[in-house]
Amino acid sequence: AAAPSGPAPGRGVHSPGRAAIAARHLRTDRWWASPALTGFGLLAFIGYSTWRAFFGLHTAYAAPYVSPFYSPCLAANCPAMKSGADWALFGSWWQLSPALIVLIFPLGFRLTCYYYRKAYYRAFWSSPPACAVAEPHASYSGETRFPLILQNIHRYFFYFAIVVAGILTYDAVLAWRNPAGQWGHAGVGTLVLLANIVLIWAYTLSCHSCRHIVGGRLRHFSKHPVRYRMWNLVGKLNARHMQLAWASLISVGVADLYVYLLASGAFTDPRIF
Ligand code: FES
Repeated sequence: AAAPSGPAPGRGVHSPGRAAIAARHLRTDRWWASPALTGFGLLAFIGYSTWRAFFGLHTAYAAPYVSPFYSPCLAANCPAMKSGADWALFGSWWQLSPALIVLIFPLGFRLTCYYYRKAYYRAFWSSPPACAVAEPHASYSGETRFPLILQNIHRYFFYFAIVVAGILTYDAVLAWRNPAGQWGHAGVGTLVLLANIVLIWAYTLSCHSCRHIVGGRLRHFSKHPVRYRMWNLVGKLNARHMQLAWASLISVGVADLYVYLLASGAFTDPRIF
């Protein structure tokens, strides 16, 4: 067993009343692999998306595709976009990257997501590092105090996430055109945006808040057959929430990378028809 560590005697897991186990944990498997991998994956995405959000403005659009990081474009400093949601609500006073205006919503949605909370509490704060592994912190207040009590805002971010998914759906529909704007064409980029929006919807609808909105606060399911059916569907997605969280995170990064590569001239989009 591992050497005793963690909080000082009398604190945390060594508080009076807790089982007197000197070892930090009794696990013999590679329990650290999962949080380490999670932390690595999250840091990689944070690094990539930060770079793209701040410096990707002029490679955010490659007709007829638009990067999901830059949609909708709400500032006047977007490059002349002939596709995607382009509403200059913010006017010309906004001089920073327009991605920063919109990314706050998917970022807030994912940051407060029940799955991501578990993931980054474990990966970055060791709180706890893994199941049945004592955390090093002396006290535990859960999410009952500031700032973590703000995690309750998740249900509101869910409504914004629906709007964002709707806008990305609009972009995915506009991708069924050729670069000249004629309908009925598809390239590899069309499929990339399509796969991305399917995964974004699956992740958004698998949200625990969505499950509660759809099927919660009912006394009798038998009196609400439609909601019961929807709740069952959302429940099936919800059981895969972690997988959908990763799949959609990767797909949004890939969709942005694809547009970046097209826009920077690395290759031209192979046309399918
Ligand atoms: Fe993960 Fe709502 S719980 S998105």
